[in-house]
Amino acid sequence: MNDVLYVNGGTPLEGTITVRGAKNFVSKAMVASLLGESPSVLRNVPQIRDVGVVTGLLELHGVAVKSDPEAGILDLDPSNVESAHVADIDAHAGSSRIPILFCGPLLHRLGEAFIPDLGGCRIGDRPINYHLDILRQFGAVVDKRENGIHIRAPRRLQGTKIELPYPSVGATEQLLLTAVRAEGITELSNAAIEPEIMDLIAVLQKMGAIISVDTDRVIRIEGVDRLEGYTHTALGDRIEAASWASAALATGGDIMVKGATQPEMMTFLNTFRKVGGRFDVQDDGIRFWHPGGDLTPIVLETDVHPGFMTDWQQPLVVALTQAKGLSIVHETVYENRFGFTDALRGMGATIQVYKECLGGRDCRFGQRNFHHSAVVSGPTPLEAADIEVPDLRGGFSHLIAALAAKGTSTVRGISLIDRGYENFQDKLTALGADVSRG
Ligand code: EPU
Repeated sequence: MNDVLYVNGGTPLEGTITVRGAKNFVSKAMVASLLGESPSVLRNVPQIRDVGVVTGLLELHGVAVKSDPEAGILDLDPSNVESAHVADIDAHAGSSRIPILFCGPLLHRLGEAFIPDLGGCRIGDRPINYHLDILRQFGAVVDKRENGIHIRAPRRLQGTKIELPYPSVGATEQLLLTAVRAEGITELSNAAIEPEIMDLIAVLQKMGAIISVDTDRVIRIEGVDRLEGYTHTALGDRIEAASWASAALATGGDIMVKGATQPEMMTFLNTFRKVGGRFDVQDDGIRFWHPGGDLTPIVLETDVHPGFMTDWQQPLVVALTQAKGLSIVHETVYENRFGFTDALRGMGATIQVYKECLGGRDCRFGQRNFHHSAVVSGPTPLEAADIEVPDLRGGFSHLIAALAAKGTSTVRGISLIDRGYENFQDKLTALGADVSRG
């Protein structure tokens, strides 16, 4: 029963915590090591379950991984890369979507790759059509079978010209990890340009790749014959940092987040300030606090970078339940990312979800039966409840709500949060929260 956290809430979170490397970069940089002819070293790696999952997958494919979890250092030696069995990949992948990104590197090294049915948080349909289209365009043959997808490269993959229908993060990473060793030039239009992608490009450049990024979402890659290993320090996790900032706001607290960085969080900081939160950018992190008085409602739309990240939305919505008036939130990245509001309503929040595009421009989910806009009316005191964690970010948001609520909440399925939040229980305790595992 250690999958339950009892949270005795109602106390402002106060103190200092540290965030390390970004989950959504570290896993991709680990995959990139497969492309090198020599070992790689990755620093600032957090102890989260997704890192364990990717380590297992790399080991299955013959990569020797040495880990120093305390120091946050991974040594990745791809000298003996080999094929893995699809059933083993399936067993190791857990709920991760990372196996899809092994395709490009494995096609270059072995000429084939297998992908099991993919997981990931249930926040929408999460198809992989862009990924498969990209691989086909490089000349790979995609064969859907009962136990997963088999992909092979009958000859060396060829550079190509591709325009994404939507600037997908994963599809852009797929293209980068495939194009760097394909023959000739690849040009990607409508690419995602999230900071985690820029850091992946930095890693690939260190390995020997030739990649240029234009100002209009166009990325050009000149394929090379050989890449070496890299040594790199991962950028900080801006989703975790924003989650702690939202927790400070929702609980009326004051949290110094070491490792949080301003350039990657500019859009979040603007919104945080408009809601009424205060922050102070320091050399080693950012301090976030609630200055007292009323919080201000806002109109917010999630978007791809440099817009307001979809992953920041869920924690911030909890803080918006404490703002005085009506806030409107339009989710334009995932069609189904308001499921977590059911539990908040159960705790006393007033949140209504709508199928219409509210508060801004029309998005691709309008008129399509997706509840992708929310109206939050506050302030409403939150009450303790018995909650089941739905997904990673929704789960952390429930935790924030439980910390803000008076009384003892029971939060079940808490291990899902270990996927992306390092030592969160220790950090909560360090911030003065009264929590214990069941
Ligand atoms: N999409 C397609 N077809 C595809 C791929 C994507 O239609 O083949 C759609 C998705 O359904 C979605 C949109 O494109 O509506 C954007 O998805 P994207 O590919 O950008 O997301 P992702 O690469 O699967 C990563 C992060 C997510 C984060 C998004 C957006 C990782 C492992 N995951 O997902 O992080 O929300 O980018 O920034 O990097 C999380 O950390 O909790 C998380 C969900």
